[in-house]
Amino acid sequence: MTPESFFISLEGIEGSGKTTQIKHIEKLLIDKGYRVLTLREPGGTEFGEKLREAILKSSTPLHPLAECHLFLASRAQLLKEKILPFLLVPKSVIILDRYIDSTMAYQGKARRLGLETVLELHRHDPLNLLPHRTYFLDINLETSLERQKLRGQQKDYFESEETEFHLNLIDGYREMAQIFPERILTIDASKTPEDISKVIDIDLGKILK
Ligand SMILES: Nc1ncnc2c1ncn2[C@@H]1O[C@H](COP(=O)(O)OP(=O)(O)OP(=O)(O)O)[C@@H](O)[C@H]1O
Ligand SMILES: [Mg+2]
Repeated sequence: MTPESFFISLEGIEGSGKTTQIKHIEKLLIDKGYRVLTLREPGGTEFGEKLREAILKSSTPLHPLAECHLFLASRAQLLKEKILPFLLVPKSVIILDRYIDSTMAYQGKARRLGLETVLELHRHDPLNLLPHRTYFLDINLETSLERQKLRGQQKDYFESEETEFHLNLIDGYREMAQIFPERILTIDASKTPEDISKVIDIDLGKILK
């Protein structure tokens, strides 16, 4: 990693505004002269996209440990093929649409594998590469459901889970924000997209100087 390279992730439940804010961040960074690569999880590589299909289109419920390892396999491959090489490019920024905190919230908390179990799996190379900064876009379940209704897409593997699952997801993200307060900035994502972007701009201004 060069001293001028940065690794940013965006986290939050469905409809929290990750994709919306990523578009804003990309533009801001490109205007500042950074080379930007945005990737999504799971996926981002040929192998990872196959795993994405295998998980999100699965018609049978997967064992939580199987689900977790599929995500980690996709992540390890993404690190090897895309993230690590790109961070060697001077003035580069990697933006991840979901990363480790989603695995913690989904598999660790909502699927009940336990945060410690899933954290342990991330202690080994290359999965131990943490972002410099994570924006956790925090919304409640009602807001998420309203935004999903407006978007009107079919519910996928996780979206069709019960209410309790989604409430646990929110708790999982919030717990992660408490465990990693230096890395994770929690943003009230019920605000307007412009207000959220302002919070991110101020923070990025401090990090990227
Ligand atoms: N701050 C906001 N206030 C109101 N609506 C918003 C806000 N941010 C995004 N939206 C709208 O909510 C919907 C979901 O936003 P977006 O796709 O950015 O969320 P996401 O976190 O990427 O969701 P997913 O996890 O499903 O990919 C979109 O229709 C978007 O226009
Ligand atoms: Mg999105």
